[in-house]
Amino acid sequence: MRTPIIAGNWKLFKKSSEAVDLVMNLAPLVKSVGGVEIIVAPVFTVLATVKRAIAGSTIKLAAQDCFWEEEGAFTGEISPGMLIDAGCSHVIIGHSERRQYFGETNETVNRKSKAALAAGLTVLFCIGETLAEREADKTFDVLRTQVRDGLTGLTKENLARIAIAYEPVWAIGTGKTATEDQAQEAHAFIRGVVAELYDHPTADAIRILYGGSVKPENIKGLMAQSDIDGALVGGASLKADSFSAIVNYGA
Ligand code: PGA
Repeated sequence: MRTPIIAGNWKLFKKSSEAVDLVMNLAPLVKSVGGVEIIVAPVFTVLATVKRAIAGSTIKLAAQDCFWEEEGAFTGEISPGMLIDAGCSHVIIGHSERRQYFGETNETVNRKSKAALAAGLTVLFCIGETLAEREADKTFDVLRTQVRDGLTGLTKENLARIAIAYEPVWAIGTGKTATEDQAQEAHAFIRGVVAELYDHPTADAIRILYGGSVKPENIKGLMAQSDIDGALVGGASLKADSFSAIVNYGA
């Protein structure tokens, strides 16, 4: 019922020729995969170039962030409408690296999500606890607050164009994946929070992706969990062979 999403977050990697090489190598490797939404998220400067390179493939395009105003005197920012103009259908919002290094808060994430939805983008909305929060037994409190405050003011209809990415901060780029049980427990909890805030049909329909050291070796076990509906992949999305192996998890 929930179509899985496998999204590659390229972070601050890949200039134009490398980005084009990657998607040109990737496209044939994933072309026969059915029933999985495949997304790549390059840096802003290569979005339009990558869009041209994926034309005719099933690969969709996401940006890694956006601002909440459509235009104005906001030097250095990029608006949701500009992302649509560059060919994006999706945008990642609230990634933990933005929260950690660039002052992103639940409030800014909320404003950005609203603006992105209003422009017609689908949002990959990121949440996740730090190691200190997990060790202090605060994981569920943190996740509840991130979901509640991040989604404030969004309607049920809005939620149809949001996928939540649960990314425990301690698992990102560390090689330390959450166990299948840890991930499933967090995903079920998040779905429960959505049910409390909205209703059961909305919670049953929303896709919740796992992120944090996803690799070809662990994707199958993660995807076997009942509340895991896909993955947000960092390091392993930078090579066509590893990313395509993840996309092909069901083969
Ligand atoms: P990773 O990154 O797969 O390299 O751990 C995931 C992410 O930050 O989205």
